[in-house]
Amino acid sequence: MKFIGNSEKGSRYGQTLVGAHIIDGKESDGHGDGRFSSYNASDNNDVVGTFPIGDEKDIEQAVAAARRAFAKWSQTPAPLRGEIIGNFGRKLLENKEELAWLVTREIGKTKREALGSVQEAIDTANFFQSEGRRLYGQTVWSEMRDKELMTYRKPYGVSGIITAGNFPIAVPSWKIIPAVLCGNTCVWKPSDDASAIAYLFAKLFEEAGLPPGVLNLVHGLGGGSTGELMIKGIDKGYFQKVSFTGSTPVGRMIGEACGRQLQIPSLELGGKNPLVIMEDADLKKAVEAAIFSCYGTAGQRCTSTGNIILHEKIADKFKADFMDAIGRVRIGNPCLDSHALYGPMINKRFYERFNEHFQMAEKDGAKLLTGKGRLTESNKPHDFIGDVNAGYYVYPTLWDRVDMKMNVAQTEVFGPTVNLVTVKNFDDALSAANATEFGLSSAIFTQNPTYMHRFKFGIDAGMTSINNSTTGAEAHLPFGGTKSSGNGTRESGIWVIDAYTKWQAVNMDLSGRLQLAQIDTEYTHERPSAGDLSKHFKPGWV
Ligand code: UN1
Repeated sequence: MKFIGNSEKGSRYGQTLVGAHIIDGKESDGHGDGRFSSYNASDNNDVVGTFPIGDEKDIEQAVAAARRAFAKWSQTPAPLRGEIIGNFGRKLLENKEELAWLVTREIGKTKREALGSVQEAIDTANFFQSEGRRLYGQTVWSEMRDKELMTYRKPYGVSGIITAGNFPIAVPSWKIIPAVLCGNTCVWKPSDDASAIAYLFAKLFEEAGLPPGVLNLVHGLGGGSTGELMIKGIDKGYFQKVSFTGSTPVGRMIGEACGRQLQIPSLELGGKNPLVIMEDADLKKAVEAAIFSCYGTAGQRCTSTGNIILHEKIADKFKADFMDAIGRVRIGNPCLDSHALYGPMINKRFYERFNEHFQMAEKDGAKLLTGKGRLTESNKPHDFIGDVNAGYYVYPTLWDRVDMKMNVAQTEVFGPTVNLVTVKNFDDALSAANATEFGLSSAIFTQNPTYMHRFKFGIDAGMTSINNSTTGAEAHLPFGGTKSSGNGTRESGIWVIDAYTKWQAVNMDLSGRLQLAQIDTEYTHERPSAGDLSKHFKPGWV
């Protein structure tokens, strides 16, 4: 690993990493033109790392390496593959503090959340270590004597993995760990916002004993660059499986390309997640949850709350309490401020989209209750720690008088903003919660078991919380969405195994004769006398 400078000589945050692609276990600068830098999201003066921009040839070589490695890796006993994943989990644990620090430095998560996101990858590794000793197939009786039937899970081949930057360790671990456990090999294009973390992730996996070529890392930018070349690679037949976390429009492009290859990709896409607060809710808890759900991570989770749906009886009280709580939200550079609820927007693009939503909401006729845009020298909280000009810091934003037909109620913003939608009763709350094109996460606050039951069954979403935040899924439950939030595939737990394996049905005849299914089977029933069909026609063999 190469660094520019050291903690004394480099920036106040630490060294600058000189990153490389990792193809077939070898570091390389690739064939592309130039390099890009990954900046500290909280302080853009700090260059966290520089990386080569992967081009077509780099991807081609990574795919070739992954294909070669697949021959051996797919034949390695699954319990041994699981061992390596266990080693990786231990490496993540040993380096938890350092990795969390890098997550904070590179993408601006708070320390508490950064530690949590590394833990999510550790939990995933722990789960899949032992899955290597299961990866169960089935045995089942044959209809004939001396014949056995069984099923096996087989890996697909080379998996193309494309990840977003907001969960730069957890989300790649949800994909890469089960992919390799199942015997696949990977070509991974991480987000350019999180290239340093991606590089260390791949290095630690290698140190854990992952053979060269099983995980190949190709850095680069997104649209118009390496990300687009990865998608073009689908039509070239590079991948037998693709897994993507990111926006719905890009997910659609990937889905179309995979459709042409007759493949099912794993797509984890956008959300506009509803949080319903009923008239009997514990409001103190609901306010606390709403603050984290809406503004934690600066709203940059696909599970962040987009619409709060309020029962009219508690709407005013909730609004007042929520506004109070928003007044206490602390924003800061999380590298320097361990008490900040959230830090910067991860990049300029996210900031611009956040900025644009003001116009959209105003045009819709929504009422701005609070939200002062970007923090500047003259427009920053008195307790702000950091340099407001060195990152994109924005105020928590709240819109009132929103109805579900408005664009602002329908559009994923991916920033710290939320809409209040007031309804008269449970049925209206449920239909408002279902009234977007998305179906990722959802939540309800109530003490009423009937509401809990009806919400759980009535909401069209992949994930539902009862008296908890829309965010914060645990690593061993299925993660994924309905409608435009995905294509029905799930990550995590036992469910993700279906994404990285194809079933093979095997029959083994030990009878010493050729026994044909359905023909030589000793069925016990005799054909009853002329059946109903003979009323209509009289068939006969000629
Ligand atoms: C994402 O934002 O893509 O459930 C993933 C959560 C986290 C994962 C979010 N465990 O909020």
